[in-house]
Amino acid sequence: MTARPVILTGDTPTGQLHLGHYVGSVKRRVELQDSCECYFLLANYHAYTTRVDKPKEIRRDCIEIVRDYLAMGIDPKRSTIFLQSEIPAITELTFLFAMLLPFNRVMRNPTLKDEIKVKGLGENYSFGFPLYAVGQTADILSFRAHGVPVGEDQVPHLEMTREVARRFNQIYCGVSDQAEDDDHVKLGGVFPVPSADVGKVGRLVGIDGVNKMSKSLNNAIFISDDEKTIKKKIGQIYTGRQNLTEKGDVNNALFEYVRIFITDAARVKELERKYSEGDNIGDGHVKAEVAEAVNKLLAPMRERRKQYEGSDDAILRILKEGSERAIAVTEKTLALAKEAAGAGFFTRTVNYSP
Ligand code: TRP
Repeated sequence: MTARPVILTGDTPTGQLHLGHYVGSVKRRVELQDSCECYFLLANYHAYTTRVDKPKEIRRDCIEIVRDYLAMGIDPKRSTIFLQSEIPAITELTFLFAMLLPFNRVMRNPTLKDEIKVKGLGENYSFGFPLYAVGQTADILSFRAHGVPVGEDQVPHLEMTREVARRFNQIYCGVSDQAEDDDHVKLGGVFPVPSADVGKVGRLVGIDGVNKMSKSLNNAIFISDDEKTIKKKIGQIYTGRQNLTEKGDVNNALFEYVRIFITDAARVKELERKYSEGDNIGDGHVKAEVAEAVNKLLAPMRERRKQYEGSDDAILRILKEGSERAIAVTEKTLALAKEAAGAGFFTRTVNYSP
């Protein structure tokens, strides 16, 4: 049997997941569960970059994300869901990888630069803030992942991860700097050079019609929103169109939703035609159809989520089993990496108390 490709991706626990997470990444993960060996990480240490004083919230958000994962169809029997803070190899590799990246290279990462701006961090971010980006390279490489399903905003992190993998393999494993990315492991490298797998919808616009959907911008539709809330939120999508006969712009936010969520392609074409010609069709009508489509998508997720509401025990069991599996894989990688880098002296096992 040939080994299945290894996929790793994750989310920073910052609250419930929303439609942007689903169409941008989780939908793809659900599809990959059979063909790939899948690891899904809760980046709880990363959450401390901006909420160091909110440990209880971070913990709560971890549990809620797992509920959302299960609701959306991630199956803990086929996929491994685990906590970043439970995996010592990730933290240890972060240290080693931090030496492979020039500091100014990390600070040039456009995703970091953008976050500093958007979150208004100014000059006052912690040392750990840029370090999280190095940590993300370790999240990925400690599983020796081949593919990383992510949204567009994560691509710069992937580029940095690829640089770390190449540099490690070149410095410590004798891989030539002329080697093709795909040949690194064949040539003795510890790490495959992973690639980003950006979903069809790299960026979903929020209900403000302008910004990327994001909890902090208050423009998100959550996976756990009920039917009425969905109708209300979709009703808020701003288009600026005045009446049924005004020629509408099918590149507006509302029509992004039409194309993403209405699955009947002929109906999408028809709506686009009527809207662009101003053929007696109101925004309210289009919004009602979009809301219906979104509700159709979310209804089975709501049902599934119900099974896991109430007690946290089942969620914690899933996280413990997942973290145990993740430890087994990453300890192997860490041993290989330490050995290659001259830092491997003794062997060890990491175990949880029963
Ligand atoms: N930074 C990612 C986000 O905020 C989450 C993340 C952490 C991640 N580690 C990862 C994504 C490794 C992919 C791979 O969405």
